[in-house]
Amino acid sequence: MRLFNDLYTIYGDLLVKKDIEITPGAVRKIRLLGEKHKQVRIPLKNTDIFTDFVNIFKDSRYRTMLAPPVSKKEICAIAANLKIENDLVFEMARMKKNLPYTYNHVLRVAAFTIKLSITYHPKEYDKEIIAHCGFTHDIGKTRIPTEILNKKERLTALERAIIETHPTIGYLLLNYYLKRDRVECSLASLEHHERPDGSGYPNGIKRLRKYARLISAVDVMDALLTKRPYRKKPFSLRATLDYLVKEAQEGRFNMGIVLSLISYARKSKPSLSDIKISKTRRERLPDEIVYEKYK
Ligand SMILES: [Fe+2]
Ligand SMILES: [Fe+2]
Repeated sequence: MRLFNDLYTIYGDLLVKKDIEITPGAVRKIRLLGEKHKQVRIPLKNTDIFTDFVNIFKDSRYRTMLAPPVSKKEICAIAANLKIENDLVFEMARMKKNLPYTYNHVLRVAAFTIKLSITYHPKEYDKEIIAHCGFTHDIGKTRIPTEILNKKERLTALERAIIETHPTIGYLLLNYYLKRDRVECSLASLEHHERPDGSGYPNGIKRLRKYARLISAVDVMDALLTKRPYRKKPFSLRATLDYLVKEAQEGRFNMGIVLSLISYARKSKPSLSDIKISKTRRERLPDEIVYEKYK
């Protein structure tokens, strides 16, 4: 894997030159460089990110999905207590300014992945790590030219390839900003577009780590549910969940995670074993162009 542009930290320090092959040795060097850099963590509740996070619960589109039995209080408490690196607070502020779509997307992904970590195999997930992964998984997008991210027309092969470097960029930045105890967060950023059938990117790996598995399904759900520069009308919740079920049946998402999301969408909040998947689809599924572009 190579990058199309030189990669800099938020302070303007060069991390990786473009066109250089990114080897494990190069990643190790970045980590060592990051260790020399003083890293301060502050509670998320003391940042603007938390204020914006709480506001997403006011969005009527997500009211049913974020309704109890898991309370807003419980989800917000996990986010509030997350200690986030000061550097990443600056990175997120930059994302909010330059990529408001992406910024609001990561806040919602964080809310849903925190909720999943409570209801879906709760003992398996470290709550602080999953919250961190939600907020930071797309940090690499801040280094992708906005003209490409905001383009309304179909992407060229080169533009697509540039967008597809964002998980690698996220991985490299997080290797620099995070200490060893948060290695799962940088790996979740690297793997959040991978798929268990090998059809994902950047590496086409089939064994995703558990945090990336949660993020990947929520990531697509949110992408389809929201307006994007290239798609005026978002997909309905029904069409979105139909799509996730189809993807899970074909081996690209974990079915338990998708069933959990279906349970959130239903008023009765059924247990996963009580959910019946109907074979009829009420609406047209996302078409091929959307599939190619939402990533
Ligand atoms: Fe992404
Ligand atoms: Fe994302």
